Amino acid sequence: MVDQQYFQMAVNAARQGADTWTNPQVGAVLVKHDQVLAVGYHHQYGERHAEVDALSKLPEIGQAKGATMYVTLEPCSHYGKTPPCAKRLVEVGISRVIIGQLDPNPKVSGRGVAILEQNGISVTVLESTGGLNQAYNYFYRNGRPWITMKYAMSLDGKINGVSGQRTQLTHSIAQADVQQLRQHQQAILVGERTLTVDDPQLTVRSRQMVFPPIRIAVVHDVNQLSTALHLFDQEAPTWLFSEVANQKVVPKTVKVIVQPKWTPAKIVAYLAEQGIQSLLVEGGSRIQAAFIAAELVDELIVYLSPQVLGGQGLPAAVGLPLTDQMAFATPTITALGQDVRLRARRL
Ligand SMILES: NC(=O)c1ccc[n+]([C@@H]2O[C@H](COP(=O)([O-])OP(=O)(O)OC[C@H]3O[C@@H](n4cnc5c(N)ncnc54)[C@H](OP(=O)(O)O)[C@@H]3O)[C@@H](O)[C@H]2O)c1
Repeated sequence: MVDQQYFQMAVNAARQGADTWTNPQVGAVLVKHDQVLAVGYHHQYGERHAEVDALSKLPEIGQAKGATMYVTLEPCSHYGKTPPCAKRLVEVGISRVIIGQLDPNPKVSGRGVAILEQNGISVTVLESTGGLNQAYNYFYRNGRPWITMKYAMSLDGKINGVSGQRTQLTHSIAQADVQQLRQHQQAILVGERTLTVDDPQLTVRSRQMVFPPIRIAVVHDVNQLSTALHLFDQEAPTWLFSEVANQKVVPKTVKVIVQPKWTPAKIVAYLAEQGIQSLLVEGGSRIQAAFIAAELVDELIVYLSPQVLGGQGLPAAVGLPLTDQMAFATPTITALGQDVRLRARRL
């Protein structure tokens, strides 16, 4: 097999790591004399890294001597929750390392490769992410989370039938798709009216998550909220961005963060400080307009429902104007039962 095929094997292994949370998904394949000796991946945040996972599968660690390791991301160089992988590869006598991409995390970037090369290991960087770790890469390169905006819309561009009411627009397949989408998010945000009108759960019900996305609502006064709302149900960590300090007892899963005026830029800056790499904005219309006006949308996911709601409903974004048009790449279009999903990245 050629390098690309072993690399693809490592990418496939990486994708099995479903609970890596703010850590990257990483896969590793150990090869000697064109034979795969071991495959490993980073299973969960805080657990051993892919390279060490692969080495742990060897019946005898001496087999690693002279082998080639294919790893999707640069081996780490620092003592975090686990010791540095680059040093471990040196210790066990790996002779060649083929890396997908350098780690954009400044704690590692280039340092892992330096350790390997200083110890006589031949290193090749393929400059390929393998399609992995989009939010992780974006976060370290741009200093803020990757922001996806998602809404369901009728054929006449409305997100509800009548202002102040919840309208169920999509059907079961599209709803299941939203559950999939949420699994890959570190935070999900809604506006105050969506919180009070829809009382959304904002949870992942399709899978038990070790690190569920943080539920966020932007509100004027946290004290005005009913504690009967789902966001107070302790099902997931919840952050309430309020303009007024909290006076009442809230569950320990709820954190209230206070600023005199929350704007999308301030919200996103706060999330970045907390190390949040991905954010899903889930409505409603005004909060969407605010994020669009702030040009804080990287990807748009629209579920089109085959119905017309007429003139009383809210459009997808109402409120703040946008100075320049925001252009998106040609969307990928997927039929989901009766509904259609459009997915497009900002150009
Ligand atoms: N179809 C869908 O996918 C979907 C998804 C979600 C919601 N919805 C529907 O959308 C409707 C709610 O939308 P909406 O536009 O009325 O409300 P919204 O966007 O959910 O919330 C807007 C509210 O948040 C407050 N707010 C606080 N800080 C803000 C900030 N920085 N930027 C913008 N707003 C801020 C606003 O107050 P001020 O106006 O006083 O500033 C306003 O009262 C509901 O009927 C819901 O069912 C549909």
